[in-house]
Amino acid sequence: MRIIKVKDYDEMSKKAAEIIIERVRRAPDMVLGLATGGTPIGTYQELVSDHVHAETSYRNVTTFNLDEYIGLSGESSHSYRAFMNKHLFELIDILEENIHIPNGVSEDIQKECIEYEELIQKHGGIDLQILGIGQNGHIGFNEPGTSFESTTHIVELDPSTREANARFFKNSEDVPEKAITIGIATIMRSKEILLLISGEQKRAAFKQLVNGEVDEKFPASVLKKHQNVSIIADDAARGD
Ligand code: PGA
Repeated sequence: MRIIKVKDYDEMSKKAAEIIIERVRRAPDMVLGLATGGTPIGTYQELVSDHVHAETSYRNVTTFNLDEYIGLSGESSHSYRAFMNKHLFELIDILEENIHIPNGVSEDIQKECIEYEELIQKHGGIDLQILGIGQNGHIGFNEPGTSFESTTHIVELDPSTREANARFFKNSEDVPEKAITIGIATIMRSKEILLLISGEQKRAAFKQLVNGEVDEKFPASVLKKHQNVSIIADDAARGD
């Protein structure tokens, strides 16, 4: 794992965007794996600004998001689909048919998981996967204890994850209890991974990631077994 040290959230966002833009310009038809949450918002702002000013195009880029809440349709403002529309998709020239996010209101969620996984593989897998990390070490919504062999599946969200995400909802009890997430094996098949980590509240997770053992109890630890992972970590997350 390569650690890229940055000062703060803004610098993390700029560095992440710089890497993504370089990859998109080099391979305009690449498959990009995207994440939601507070961490990548600044990165998406940088991508949008670059799209407007430097005209990097996403017309031929295909995207797959990591996860979606079960029970929320794309029209719900709390869905990850709505998050992505607002922070990125509506602001760049990506084509609707090239955007993929699990359908949280599919009538057959199990089938949705299988088809989502197949679709990723049909596109040749993910070229560059953007990841955040939960305080409990989750990547995507793969909570502690998830098998490293997992592909796209249904998860029961950890109480700590629901609590952390309550800030995006009116009431904490509105946070869905279940989600669809791509699996750890799916993430590990990505050709390149970029993990973003910022803020003091992620310091323990950063320490565990760098110093801990590879263990299913801390899902992000699996990244140590991947050949091409960069972690962009700010001073507050690194604690130095
Ligand atoms: P956050 O979430 O970016 O909102 O901190 C990250 C994650 O849970 O993966």
